[in-house]
Amino acid sequence: MSQDNRIKLTSLSSKGGCGCKIGPADLSEVLRNLPISEPNPNLLVGLDTSDDAGVYKLNDELALVQTLDFFTPIVDDPYSFGQVAAANAISDIYAMGGKPLTVLNIVAFPISTLPKQVLTDILRGAADKVKEAGATLVGGHSIDDKEPKFGLAVTGLVHPGRVRTNAGAKPGDKLILTKPIGVGILTTSIKKDQLTDEEINRVIEVMATLNKTAAETMEPFDVHACTDVTGFGLLGHASEMAKGSHVGIHMFQKRVPVLPRVRELAEAGFVPGGTKNNYAHLEGSISFSEDLDQIDQWILCDAVTSGGLLISVDSVQAETLLDKLRAAGVDAHLIGEVTAEYPGQIIVTS
Ligand code: CO
Ligand code: CO
Ligand code: CO
Repeated sequence: MSQDNRIKLTSLSSKGGCGCKIGPADLSEVLRNLPISEPNPNLLVGLDTSDDAGVYKLNDELALVQTLDFFTPIVDDPYSFGQVAAANAISDIYAMGGKPLTVLNIVAFPISTLPKQVLTDILRGAADKVKEAGATLVGGHSIDDKEPKFGLAVTGLVHPGRVRTNAGAKPGDKLILTKPIGVGILTTSIKKDQLTDEEINRVIEVMATLNKTAAETMEPFDVHACTDVTGFGLLGHASEMAKGSHVGIHMFQKRVPVLPRVRELAEAGFVPGGTKNNYAHLEGSISFSEDLDQIDQWILCDAVTSGGLLISVDSVQAETLLDKLRAAGVDAHLIGEVTAEYPGQIIVTS
């Protein structure tokens, strides 16, 4: 990439991927003073539980799952950016146990200064992922903007009785993670020209992988809670699960899969600001064992884009689900367990 004269998409923005989310502290300050809307019995999952998507019941058999996600370029290659943005946006449907049905493109693009082919390639990458997900593109909206941004609004369907929120984890459950972490540190390193093409392709592949297989594999299992790991990092999303479910979580740092070179690049200073914000925001909710240093702690809070599912499954079924996920080609790991002690808190040991 860096050898030729193609446009370096990531150079057009200061932050990329889910790292450009407004931080949880700022967001809660903004939302705090909003008027509380009339309760609607059909709104099964709304704003109040920090879940992945909204769920609205249509009838006893069917509920809508709705979500949207868009961000600035996280990688330089337009086609790959489109793929990653689409996989990331669709992921929230899978995290709720739903199936994606329709999507709308959200486009901001400097149409007079960048070649139109760049936008065509972004849309092509997204379209290929939407097709792979079995969903249908029904429209979109585009604006002329200095900084390119892209994403999708996604609508899916789920049975109202089979919604996987982040609020149902039970003491004794095992926690399974379906993708490795370290994506924020690696994509920050892409911007700073620290990765080889091969390393860039590897992290793109991780981000562009749909959570479809993982979601379909977990469907028949006794999954009590599920979320996907994105901008708030593994520990941030695990913390939402602990708080939403009123349980404690014990995580084993050595069992958490981390992409190659992440530790080395973190030590060299390529830890994104979003990751440090996540870490700061979790102060008081997490305790780390003394053998885990600052780098270990940052990595577990690293702002992910299009990460895996974090699944809280009945302990009796955990090994079987893990085997099935691996047999289906999912890079799944058992990384922790749910406890009755210290509700809302996470303890991380090596
Ligand atoms: Co999510
Ligand atoms: Co999202
Ligand atoms: Co969920």
